[in-house]
Amino acid sequence: MAPIAIKSVLISESVDPRCKSILEENGIRVTEKQNMKKDELIAEIKNYDGLVVRSATKVTADVIGAADNLKIIGRAGTGVDNVDVDAATKKGIIVMNTPSGNTISAAELTCALLISLSRNVPQAVISMKQGNWDRKKFMGSELFGKVLGIVGLGRIGKEVASRMQSFGMRTIGYDPITPPQVSASWGVEQMPLEELWPQCDYITVHTPLMPSTVGLLNDESFAKCKKGVKVVNCARGGIIDEAALLRALESGQCGGAGLDVFVEEPPKDRALVEHPNVISCPHLGASTKEAQARCGEDIALQMVDMVNGRKLIGAVNAQILVSTFTEESHQLIRLGEAVGALLQACTTSNKPLSSVQITTLGDSMKTSTSYLSSSVLVGLLKHDGCCPNLINVLSLSKEAGIKCLIFKKNLTCESTLQAIGAVQGGVPVLLELCGSVFRQPVSLAGSLLFFKAPANPQLLSSVAGKNLM
Ligand SMILES: NC(=O)c1ccc[n+]([C@@H]2O[C@H](COP(=O)([O-])OP(=O)(O)OC[C@H]3O[C@@H](n4cnc5c(N)ncnc54)[C@H](O)[C@@H]3O)[C@@H](O)[C@H]2O)c1
Repeated sequence: MAPIAIKSVLISESVDPRCKSILEENGIRVTEKQNMKKDELIAEIKNYDGLVVRSATKVTADVIGAADNLKIIGRAGTGVDNVDVDAATKKGIIVMNTPSGNTISAAELTCALLISLSRNVPQAVISMKQGNWDRKKFMGSELFGKVLGIVGLGRIGKEVASRMQSFGMRTIGYDPITPPQVSASWGVEQMPLEELWPQCDYITVHTPLMPSTVGLLNDESFAKCKKGVKVVNCARGGIIDEAALLRALESGQCGGAGLDVFVEEPPKDRALVEHPNVISCPHLGASTKEAQARCGEDIALQMVDMVNGRKLIGAVNAQILVSTFTEESHQLIRLGEAVGALLQACTTSNKPLSSVQITTLGDSMKTSTSYLSSSVLVGLLKHDGCCPNLINVLSLSKEAGIKCLIFKKNLTCESTLQAIGAVQGGVPVLLELCGSVFRQPVSLAGSLLFFKAPANPQLLSSVAGKNLM
């Protein structure tokens, strides 16, 4: 990836101090504020290339709209729920998070909730504080020998499994991406959800919140569970349908719930929080000193790695950039942009072309097709008022009505305009333009002027003057 220059970063809320010091050690100017209000953020954001947030700052479309120079939004934490990723992508801004910084903390809280559910620890604590000594009421059950269903076997799901196995629990699970043999290597047998529900004494969810996971546990799935099943949601509010959970708690189908997250935070509807069999926390999964330190440090290191063109970690909307960290890719991106700009200049109208066919030749180009074709579109769309880059160009070209077709075989192009380019000696060059072959490849740099005329040595001197011959 061609290095992205980040000279100034705004930290809009409390982030571990290592974040600021790492950025500053790497020559980035940092302004740190506490709990910035939205209006203040909108007024100031145009002065920065980078923004670092945790979860209190809501990076909405109007904030992004005012962020004229912003190149990256970094969230020191897992997930980017407080960032309007679509608006950022359209503006060509990278959105990055620190996916693994709080894995252990979230896993440990999940385990704490599972253990508390088995022994009614929070309820017993409240009762003691009220002056009671009620031993019968808080009779619990052992975790040993019980079945824990883990839905979502990513980073946190895996850590929860190994910890609860040490309590003697049998761990079963489901994940559409993690291969069964991989989870089996850490002791989790995978099976379809239909088979999983009826076997579990406890269920914990560790998936992202997305259309396919909203209401994963609902009336229908609760009905398939063992009576009295206990559930934990330390992932995102809404993965367990809140209304269905309340119904299951009231009917006894669900014997208890540990909730760290809610659809609305803080929850205005208090029915779940106040239910006697619910233990809940105000979204504390990542709230440990260690997790905050790791996330603050990780976001700064990830930004610095990106700025120095070393690697890209944690970006949620810039997958295309991951394979652009070699000098060869920089050259191909320059070639693509130059060819795109040339084709745009060749059109007689100011409007971009409506369809672009890109053909790459040679096996070495197989891995570069996606960023090469996007860079051609960047060149094509770069005109007054339009600032395309590799992040936003696909959505901009869709909006502009440009169809992009990619071929990886011999040219069969019958387009109106055709340009053939290559990289020679590290320099992007033009080999052919609209049927005219350049025996001497033309370096695609600086300002170029093209004339179409019959080959005639006198013509050049009459156009360029004798001194240039
Ligand atoms: N409570 C907190 O403060 C806190 C802290 C950290 C993370 N989290 C949340 O925990 C969740 C898990 O985080 P992670 O770091 O383990 O993420 P991860 O990306 O490592 O793992 C998520 C897993 O869910 C799986 N998945 C996706 N759709 C699924 C489906 N329909 N059914 C089953 N599995 C599915 C994915 O394949 C992936 O393996 C996320 O929602 C994250 O936002 C919460």
